[in-house]
Amino acid sequence: MSVIKWQSLVEAAKKGYQRAYAPYSKFHVGAAAQTVNNEILNGCNVENASYGLTVCAERNCIAQVVVSGEQKINALVVYTEQEKLTPPCGACRQVIAEFMAQDAPVKAVNHLNNEKTWTVAQLLPDAFTPKDLL
Ligand code: THU
Repeated sequence: MSVIKWQSLVEAAKKGYQRAYAPYSKFHVGAAAQTVNNEILNGCNVENASYGLTVCAERNCIAQVVVSGEQKINALVVYTEQEKLTPPCGACRQVIAEFMAQDAPVKAVNHLNNEKTWTVAQLLPDAFTPKDLL
């Protein structure tokens, strides 16, 4: 596995954060992913007047990875400016498990530089993944 560029990931996640479209919750989230080819893509949450159509930063970030032509992610950062670090929601955990290995790291970071890291398996043990369809 290649070296994870945590600092670049946090910077990219912050840029995503600045672009968040969250007029309803006012809860801005940025995310950034490092692909197996060491590309870094980011995303932000995008809300909707029909609230349930909101898409989280993590899933928009992963969509950017796929649009860029990549499908494997080595590391993911979630950035917010919340004192309590923001973990990925349940829906995002499922999507993360589709594109990241079970031992790959997901890190929550905030503006105070607090951080917490989980493996994908810690976030979603015994995930249903493409392997289960074989
Ligand atoms: N949100 C994310 O983008 N990622 C998370 O990990 C948690 C929640 C968004 C969805 C919604 O726009 C706002 O945060 C409040 O739930």
